[in-house]
Amino acid sequence: MLTIKYLNWYHHRLKMGLYAIAVEAINDYTGLSPTAFFTILCLMVITYKFVCGMFIVVDDSKAVRRRNEPVQLGEMTEEELWSYNGSDPNKPLLMAIKGQIYDVSSSRMFYGPGGAYSMFTGRDASRALALLSFKPQDLNGNLEGLGDAELDILRDWEFKFMEKYPRVGVITAKENSKQSGDKLEHEISDDHPNKD
Ligand code: HEM
Repeated sequence: MLTIKYLNWYHHRLKMGLYAIAVEAINDYTGLSPTAFFTILCLMVITYKFVCGMFIVVDDSKAVRRRNEPVQLGEMTEEELWSYNGSDPNKPLLMAIKGQIYDVSSSRMFYGPGGAYSMFTGRDASRALALLSFKPQDLNGNLEGLGDAELDILRDWEFKFMEKYPRVGVITAKENSKQSGDKLEHEISDDHPNKD
């Protein structure tokens, strides 16, 4: 009990001693009272922070980039691609050239709803781009019957897109051809009733 009391007293003396030494040191070195010294110190820190804040720009561009970063979607069918045509504001705007899918969300002005080129969004627009056509019958990825000049135009578009937009996936064969593939697999499996 006595030891604890003594220890408390000792600590108190020690703290007071340190305080007295600090006050003396501040007074010796600055000629200021502790109150004046700490007030000036605080003002200096506030000024420093304020001046730094004027020159240091907080770099939040990385966070913005991360938020807008394109998501790799891999393979998708034309039907799935259609769901990225801008009708769902929470989904990116996608468009394909020669089966390669690009995220064109950064040009929402062109490709978003009401945009001049919104008819290309959510599908493979290769044929329309090659023919420089907006006709509904050309809004597809069918390259049949196109000449060299048209294929060159398409290639130019492709280069433009490759440069400007992230490629996020590729169009796979139609869902029904996949289904027929599944059917075939099922037909040759052991449990098929018509296997013999
Ligand atoms: C009357 C003729 C046309 C005019 C005046 C015109 C004008 C423009 C302009 C000013 C831009 C913006 C360029 C930029 O800021 O990067 C643009 C972009 C574009 N144009 Fe046209 N255009 C015309 C015809 C066409 C045709 C026939 C097609 C294809 C069928 C087409 C497809 C596109 C596409 C896909 C973009 C956007 C490219 C991107 O994503 O950067 N345009 N057009």
